[in-house]
Amino acid sequence: MNLRSDDELLHYIVTEDPRETEALFARARAAREKYYGADVYFRGLIEFTNYCKNDCYYCGLRRSNTKIERYRLSLEQILMCAGLGAMLGYRTFVLQGGEDPYFTRERVVEIVGALREKYPECAITLSIGERSRKSYAAFREAGANRYLLRHETANAGHYAKLHPASMSLGNRKRCLFNLKKLGYQVGSGFMVGTPFQTPENLLEDLRFLQSLEPDMVGIGPFIPQSDTPFGEEAQGSMAQSLRMVALSRLLLPAALIPATTALGTIHPQGREKALLAGANVVMPNLSPKATRKLYALYDNKICTGDEAAECLGCMTGRIRRVGFVPNMCRGDVALKRLQSGRLLRME
Ligand code: 5AD
Ligand code: FES
Repeated sequence: MNLRSDDELLHYIVTEDPRETEALFARARAAREKYYGADVYFRGLIEFTNYCKNDCYYCGLRRSNTKIERYRLSLEQILMCAGLGAMLGYRTFVLQGGEDPYFTRERVVEIVGALREKYPECAITLSIGERSRKSYAAFREAGANRYLLRHETANAGHYAKLHPASMSLGNRKRCLFNLKKLGYQVGSGFMVGTPFQTPENLLEDLRFLQSLEPDMVGIGPFIPQSDTPFGEEAQGSMAQSLRMVALSRLLLPAALIPATTALGTIHPQGREKALLAGANVVMPNLSPKATRKLYALYDNKICTGDEAAECLGCMTGRIRRVGFVPNMCRGDVALKRLQSGRLLRME
């Protein structure tokens, strides 16, 4: 297994052979162990707006979804979530939202600046979609360290089947490369099992990750949301999602890879299985209990009824039970392998 050729990658993208998949997962665990040991890092997720100007066919927050009750958290509410998180021990806050025009460059700068001032030792991650390079630069200046923006699919034809014509893969990629140039630790990623996806598309996703070299990679199964055009489509496969986690780990061994909520949603042990396939990050929810149910990207999302402290306790136990070690430190991408093979410490 050297995973260099397209043919071999394609083979592992589709194989259902239990011995082959276990060998793949064992290799992925070894790669992650080499860079991060047994540690699993925590990120506190603050879902601060479910307004979105986009109309992605798969996503429950799409603007055409009139069934969803919309909300925005105020600066004070965001600071309360972060305060609770800090008290619980979190050192990374992920501010995630739809592409909400209310949160102008100035407003986002104000939020990031307030968090930066109050929590100078914490990492601040933004996940608010496509913005201008100038805005990304302003957020970075205000103190943001990381940015999550999944590419969703690296095939332009497939991208066009999942998004309206107003959105393009080209712009998504431009944003990702801009973020890198601005010195963010960048996260990308994709869904597994979206309508019309082929194994070749997933191969392109892996090849794109290799060219971008992101610091974080988020992968989760597609899960239909009943109030979207894809509401009746089939859900993505857990087994294939896990194989994509493992392959991403092997191609980008130093990456931070979350065991995603979507995986936990389609199987009670989905997140544990992801850890055993090479993931090393969890992102429990710090959002106020009252708004959690409203951040309905897909149906049956887990952890929408739990308090922040419950999720922390639950995840800690889950991590320990599969033999890993919960780590509440910032968990920056620790090491980068240079072409020479030397390891470089970041930040
Ligand atoms: N199923 C699974 N994941 C989804 N996302 C959005 N809608 C869905 C869905 N129906 C993912 C996208 C997005 C992330 C925040 O959530 O990949 O980038
Ligand atoms: Fe939220 Fe388990 S992580 S209840």
